[in-house]
Amino acid sequence: MPEEQINLSLVPRRPEDCAVVIFGASGDLTGRKLVPALYRLFASGATPEHFYICGAARSEMSREEFQNKMHQAVEARGVDMSAWERFAACLHYHPVVYDQVETYHALAARLDELDALHGVKGNRILELAIPPTMYQTVALTLGQAGLASEEHGWRRLVVEKPFGRDLDSSRELNRAICQGFAEHQVFRIDHYLAKETVQNIMMFRFANAIFEPLWNRNYIDQVSIVTAETLGVEHRAGYYEQAGVLRDMFQNHMMQLLALVAAEPPSLFEANRVRDERTKLFRSLRPFPLEDLYGYLVLAQYEAGEIDGQPVPAYRAEPGVDPSSLAPTFATMKVFVDNWRWQGVPFYLTSGKRLTEKLTRIVIHFREVPHSLFRQVLGEDIQTNRLVLDIQPKEEITLYFQAKQPGAQVALRTVRLHFSYQDQAAKQGTEAYEKALADAMLGDQMLFWRQDGVELCWAFLDPILEACESCGDRADRLHRYRAGTWGPRDAAKLWPGHPYNYPVS
Ligand code: BG6
Repeated sequence: MPEEQINLSLVPRRPEDCAVVIFGASGDLTGRKLVPALYRLFASGATPEHFYICGAARSEMSREEFQNKMHQAVEARGVDMSAWERFAACLHYHPVVYDQVETYHALAARLDELDALHGVKGNRILELAIPPTMYQTVALTLGQAGLASEEHGWRRLVVEKPFGRDLDSSRELNRAICQGFAEHQVFRIDHYLAKETVQNIMMFRFANAIFEPLWNRNYIDQVSIVTAETLGVEHRAGYYEQAGVLRDMFQNHMMQLLALVAAEPPSLFEANRVRDERTKLFRSLRPFPLEDLYGYLVLAQYEAGEIDGQPVPAYRAEPGVDPSSLAPTFATMKVFVDNWRWQGVPFYLTSGKRLTEKLTRIVIHFREVPHSLFRQVLGEDIQTNRLVLDIQPKEEITLYFQAKQPGAQVALRTVRLHFSYQDQAAKQGTEAYEKALADAMLGDQMLFWRQDGVELCWAFLDPILEACESCGDRADRLHRYRAGTWGPRDAAKLWPGHPYNYPVS
C-alpha cells in the first residue's frame, strides 16, 4: 500500500481548444512571465490540443521577429527548449493601436483566419499585459469591436492587478470592463493565489479533521502573515511611487492570504462558493481605528544598506524616485475580523521590500495551556504551540510543540513536526502563472478576484490610505529602516511575533 495516494479527481483536465491573445505582447510581462508559462504548459501537454497564441501590441513586428523575441525570453528562463519548434508554430503576431477600434476589427479578422488554420472554434483568452492606465481603453474597445461577444465560442478577459488605485477608480475600471464582458468572463489575476503552497492552505484546513476544531478564538491567540522581499523597487518607480506598499501588496496579496487563513469552509470546493466565503471574510474586517491609526499601523521606507553582502541604495536614491518621497516600502498592520470565529484575535500583516530575506510565511500562534502544572519546576516560560505555513521560498508546514528534554533533568524543549514540498521525490508543482493561465483556459475562477472582493478590500483600505496620505505629520510618521534588516524597530513593538522578538528559524 503506497504511503501517499493522489486523489485522481484533482488531476487537471485538458482545456478546450482555444487561442490566447496577449495585448502588450512586446512588453516586459509577456516575455518574463506569460510566454514562458505558456511554453511550459505546452511542453507538458497541458495546453489544448488545438491552440495558438497571438501577440498584439502597438509595435510593428513580423511574426519571425516576435518568435525570435519570445525564443530569447523563454531560453533566458533556463527551461528545456526541446519543444520550442512545435511551440513556435503556434506563435503569431498582429499589431493594434489600443484606442482605434478599426485595428481591433482587423485583429478580429486575423483571429478568424488563425482559428481556421489551427482548428480552433472561436474560444479566446484575451490577456491584458499592458500598463494599467490602458486597461479601461482596451477593455472598452474590445467590447465595441465585438471581441467580448460569446456568440461563437467563449471569451475570457484576463486582467492583472492593480484593479484601480482606490474604490472609485476600481469601480470605474469595472464599469469599462462590464460594457463588453460579464463577470463570468473576467479573470482578475492575483499570482499569490496561484502559488501551489497558497492553494495548499485550503486543503490543509479543510481536508484534515484535526486542525479545524482548533481554528478559532478559543485556541488561537494571534495570527501573523508576512511577505518579505530582498528586492527593492527595481525599475518600477513610476508605479510604486504612486502605489506604496499598501496598494502594491496589502490591497491584494495580503488580503487574499488573510482570507485563506480566516475564511469559513465553503460547502463545496467550487469557484463561486469559495469566493463567496472570501468575500464574507472581507466584509467582516473591522473598520480600521482611524482615531488611533498609528497604534495599529507602522509605515516605513528603506535606507541604504546591504543585501547579501552587497551595498544597495536608499529608496529615495533609486532611479525615478523623488528624493523626498514619502512612499512607504514597509508596513505592519494589526487587523481584526469581527465574526464569531475570530472575535478578539489580532492578525498582524507585514510586508516590506529590502528586508533580510525573501520569505512568505503565515504563523498561527496557539494559546497557552490553560493551567501550567510545570510552573514550579520550569517557571512561567513555556513556549506556546505554533503552526508555521511557509509559502516561499521554502514550501513547508511545521508544527512546533513541547516535549521532554531527554535525560534525568525535568526540562522541556521545542520540537517540530515538519513537512516539506521540496522533499517530495517527484515535485510536480506548477509556477503561479502556469496555474493562473491554465485555470483561465479551463474557465475556473476560484483563484481569481471577483469584483465584490476587490471593492470590499478597497473600502477597507481607502480610509487608511486617505488618513495616512493627508495627515500633516506624514513625514514624521514614516519610519526608516536599513536595507537588509527586518524593518523598523517600531514594527516589533506593534507585532509581538516580529523577527526582532521571535527568531526566524
Ligand atoms: C507583485 C508586487 O504583485 O508581487 C511586487 O507588485 C512584488 O512589488 C511581487 O515584488 C512579489 O511577488 P513574489 O511572487 O515574488 O513574492
